Amino acid sequence: PVKVFPDKNIASIKVAQRIAEIIKRKNSKNEYAVLGLATGQTPVGVYAELVRMHKEEGLSFQNVITFNLDEYYPMKPTSAQSYVAFMNYHLFDHVDIKPENVNIPDGTLDKENIHDYCLQYENKISEAGGMDIQVLGIGRTGHIGFNEPGSAPNSGTRLVTLDDLTRSDASRDFGGKENVPTKAITMGIGTIFKAKEIVLLAWSKKKAPIVKRAVEEEMSGDVPATFLQMSDTVEFILDEDAASELT
Ligand code: F6R
Repeated sequence: PVKVFPDKNIASIKVAQRIAEIIKRKNSKNEYAVLGLATGQTPVGVYAELVRMHKEEGLSFQNVITFNLDEYYPMKPTSAQSYVAFMNYHLFDHVDIKPENVNIPDGTLDKENIHDYCLQYENKISEAGGMDIQVLGIGRTGHIGFNEPGSAPNSGTRLVTLDDLTRSDASRDFGGKENVPTKAITMGIGTIFKAKEIVLLAWSKKKAPIVKRAVEEEMSGDVPATFLQMSDTVEFILDEDAASELT
């Protein structure tokens, strides 16, 4: 289903409330809440609201485990463009999550160790019981995580090559496209489907054409986000601009 909100701030608060409900429900049962998280501009308002809830309403992250979707490869966690730095800046530095419960793919591995590492990442997600909720953005290529066109619906965590358009879109963060890594480690589409609920967020006119394709086109690897149509629990959470091309 598609839910359209008047603007991204209202939508982001709704998503944050939904995440907070899961955290509190699990906490009341003495269980962990397992969150699948995305980086990029789209979820920034969600994280800001979660931080506000922590500071002003005492929402605790003591019982939270997180798995991030992806990280550039190669990438040092100390680099400003790393998704580790992004998550610390927008969320983890401001809440009481236990550092050992934060999982972000490691961009520093030697090539020959990546395969085993990805299997471990996958197993860790399974052992945690899968994500209670997975937050997704969408790239203009139709990627979710960094599952670019051509990705299989049952794909697992793996090293991938970034699409040219994805690298162009990231060029501002890196001060030029030539500085954007060509690869990334990403959860697969099959990994994302381990989540009990999936929310895909998209804001602005820039996303309207790909949102239309993701929601309305027949499922295919050409637009990996179309595979979400298989999920009973997915919600496309849009602002009016991102929804503006839907029929
Ligand atoms: C980020 C990720 C990507 C982004 C997508 C949209 O962890 O997996 O799929 O969600 O590229 O990026 P923004 O939100 O910057 O438009």
